Amino acid sequence: MSLTVGCIGCGNMGGAILAGLARNGGYALCGYNRSPERMTPLQKLNVKSMPNALAVAQASDILIIAVKPYQVESVLRDLHPVLNKEKVLVSIAAGITLQRLTSAVQNACPVVRCMPNTPALVGKGVFALCFEDSSISASQQSGVRHLFDTLGTCVELPENKFTAFSALIGAGPAYVFAMMQGLVQAGVTLGFQQREARQMVTSLFGGCSEMAQCDAKPLMQLRDDVCSPAGLTIAGVNVLDRAGLTGLLVDAVLAAEQRGREMEKS
Ligand SMILES: NC(=O)c1ccc[n+]([C@@H]2O[C@H](COP(=O)([O-])OP(=O)(O)OC[C@H]3O[C@@H](n4cnc5c(N)ncnc54)[C@H](OP(=O)(O)O)[C@@H]3O)[C@@H](O)[C@H]2O)c1
Repeated sequence: MSLTVGCIGCGNMGGAILAGLARNGGYALCGYNRSPERMTPLQKLNVKSMPNALAVAQASDILIIAVKPYQVESVLRDLHPVLNKEKVLVSIAAGITLQRLTSAVQNACPVVRCMPNTPALVGKGVFALCFEDSSISASQQSGVRHLFDTLGTCVELPENKFTAFSALIGAGPAYVFAMMQGLVQAGVTLGFQQREARQMVTSLFGGCSEMAQCDAKPLMQLRDDVCSPAGLTIAGVNVLDRAGLTGLLVDAVLAAEQRGREMEKS
């Protein structure tokens, strides 16, 4: 019998996770969202719309909580009567620690922390998973791992690496979109239509990403392979090197990580 996966809070991220699982098949799916209209597109994908959060928790083997971080603990406290050790709770809420989650459910079930990034919205997310709650069984752990493997790329991390993950991969789309914007702007400057430039640049990122995944060569080597002696690429690359693009990216991620640590303390 297939596992039932339920989601409380079916907004952008919760809805995307349920939709991704529905498209891939293999699970019975259910969800509850405060405003019921968010459930309509999911129902068309055979996600069962439940009358309340308690009903989702009761029906689910793997229960995903995807409300805003400030709402998580109050929602979880009400679920206690139907939680048990056979169920796993997965929280995708940014910044809510395992300790706060386990205390909100009064240790009634094992808890996993998960951090997605926005490409999860199109089925290409990177998910960090933390399995440091020792009450989780091996089969529950592999069940959760399998679920997120079907949705994108998964990495298992200790909780103390979640801020670093957020600074690099959670914030990552902002860095990548900023680079895309610069290239699209350059394309428009050179006379391409905005739409045309955007299509070419996004395909450029897709193709390079695929190459970097398939080819074990160092990234610098892949870069140098494009630079013919006295050619046009090296002229452009020299400008990037003089401006210190690589160092800027490192500094951006370090600044984000530092801000993340400050936010955790406040
Ligand atoms: N979006 C991202 O890129 C991203 C990345 C990493 C982590 N996350 C985490 O994902 C979680 C959800 O973020 P989101 O961007 O998907 O937010 P969102 O689009 O606002 O989704 C949250 C949903 O929860 C619903 N909700 C609120 N209280 C509820 C309750 N008591 N019972 C049932 N549903 C309830 C909201 O319903 P209404 O429609 O009535 O408001 C809303 O549809 C957050 O904890 C966030 O930290 C998001």
